[in-house]
Amino acid sequence: MYKISLNGLDGSGKTTQYKLLKDRFPYGYFSNDIGYYNIFPNLRGDDFFKWWFLDSKLEEFCDTIYRGIKYRDDEAIKKEKQLIINDKGVFTFDCRILANFLMRGYNNLDIYNQINMSKKKYGINSENLSLFLNIDDTTKLNERLRQRNDSKINSYDDYYHNYQIVLNDVTKKMIKKSNIQIINAVDDINNVFNKIIDSIINKNQKFIFISGVSESGKSTASEYLTHLLPNSVHVKMRDILNEMYLSSGSNLEKHLWMKEQEKNDSYRFWYDFILLTSSSHYDNEFIVLDTLYGIDAIKSIYRILKNNVNLIYIEASYHNRVYREYMKLKENRSITIDEVADMVEKKDRNKQKFGLLNLKKLSIYNNELVIDDNSSYTPFTYIVNNDGNVGDFKNQLSEISDDIKSKEVKVKCIKRT
Ligand SMILES: Nc1ncnc2c1ncn2[C@@H]1O[C@H](COP(=O)(O)OP(=O)(O)O)[C@@H](O)[C@H]1O
Ligand SMILES: [Mg+2]
Repeated sequence: MYKISLNGLDGSGKTTQYKLLKDRFPYGYFSNDIGYYNIFPNLRGDDFFKWWFLDSKLEEFCDTIYRGIKYRDDEAIKKEKQLIINDKGVFTFDCRILANFLMRGYNNLDIYNQINMSKKKYGINSENLSLFLNIDDTTKLNERLRQRNDSKINSYDDYYHNYQIVLNDVTKKMIKKSNIQIINAVDDINNVFNKIIDSIINKNQKFIFISGVSESGKSTASEYLTHLLPNSVHVKMRDILNEMYLSSGSNLEKHLWMKEQEKNDSYRFWYDFILLTSSSHYDNEFIVLDTLYGIDAIKSIYRILKNNVNLIYIEASYHNRVYREYMKLKENRSITIDEVADMVEKKDRNKQKFGLLNLKKLSIYNNELVIDDNSSYTPFTYIVNNDGNVGDFKNQLSEISDDIKSKEVKVKCIKRT
């Protein structure tokens, strides 16, 4: 499960972006506002304002907010979706509580302590990724708020105005102490959206795709690599694609749907694939996936993941592939070697349609993958030959796994100072 939150001051564009993300990721769960869970006292207008800013007790207020977050979290878990998006993350609430009670003359440490106690009580942790929509210029914020046209006019306008100033100050200090990722939100709505999309992909995960001709040993390779790489998981591409297909609600047959998706926008299609895979295995460092056939697929995936993707191509002679598959199948049913040969050839032809053979020739050129017939650039694909014995096969995989591990560049979240 991968939980993301949008944070920022009022008017920074959280809800605007939340709605865009909701359209973009039909397979995600988009949580409710905590107010949805009937946690607040039943007051209206000025009375609610008074409770929020003046009358509530620190413990009562913290308890209310984090209980609401707990209900929101619980419901998200119940939905059993892998990707969860919150409009207003834990960070936003922490800042609001701090500013609220600083305004009332409480001291910083007492507020912190209460915040931490209530969070502990309800088991509240920050989301896996907290994004902060940053607007440096507060006059811009006020402009947007006026534009939104819901600034309720009440007798506490001045108080609210001062609160915004304190909140702004508190938020700046809190940003320095946290791992929150800043998005510059003084930009066109679509540009902000694209920046969010770019920052969502987990930069701490490595994806290793397995490809190769039929019966060359891809599954064995996947299993063995998962055994070699620490904190890794083996994922069948077919399973993730099925999930995407089902959540699309498309009337087309699956292979036609996929063809259409890839044709429309290959980058977007594979971005969703990567995001969903990553969300489903968020705690794994290495994800081994089989089977990849398409040249366009890996080109798009490379644009999305850059150094965090590798491709391993397994090859073996036609003779060996047919013979091994025959030995395996005949254990359980009566089949002739000619029948197996036909099956292997048919599968080979199918995969070649997607450009399978060109996968071996990929190189990195100008930050893109290209088919490099003359081996002029940095080769991208690891090629493994599986015509020898199992030990030989495993040795090659072990060398590749060492190479992938050694090239690992951890882009951990940088603490801002
Ligand atoms: N990038 C942007 N540029 C200009 N106006 C924006 C931008 N993002 C949001 N807005 C507008 O600003 C107002 C506040 O946005 P909203 O998403 O409601 O903020 P929040 O949920 O953070 O309080 C809305 O009227 C919205 O249409
Ligand atoms: Mg909002």
